[in-house]
Amino acid sequence: MESSRKGGRYSRIYKQLQELLITTTDPDARMATIVAVLHHKMDYFFWTGFYLLAEGELTVRTYQGPLACQVLEKHKGVCWAGVDQGRTITVPDIDRFPGHIACNSVSKSEIAVPVRNKKGKIVAVFDIDSASLDSFDETDAAWLEKIVELIF
Ligand code: SME
Repeated sequence: MESSRKGGRYSRIYKQLQELLITTTDPDARMATIVAVLHHKMDYFFWTGFYLLAEGELTVRTYQGPLACQVLEKHKGVCWAGVDQGRTITVPDIDRFPGHIACNSVSKSEIAVPVRNKKGKIVAVFDIDSASLDSFDETDAAWLEKIVELIF
């Protein structure tokens, strides 16, 4: 999707999410709502979900898309890179990302956004896979970072 079209769509989704998420402060409910809205509105989102960081493990939580790995091997792959580096990781071609964890062979590109609680501690990762190469850019990164700030 073209960057300007993407930005317009994210902007509308962000407004919708702000209105939806205000009805509860429950982070799990908010994450489920974010996943449902984005997965159905962004046609290139093939897998959309969260991994919770607790007791040194990344364990899957709410998601939409095909069956995913439940627990990710420690300090390996895209989601762990997001946690370990404390920043959004954008992968244009997962075959070129050393250690990438393939939960589904259809996935071709990926973005992983760390989720911070109110104290600024990373407590989860928002992970999105696409079935096409090079689907995610700085527009996705900027908007997804803004969206995960709505959780806590
Ligand atoms: N590819 C991820 C694992 C999660 S799935 O894509 C749903 C990774 O390398 O961390």
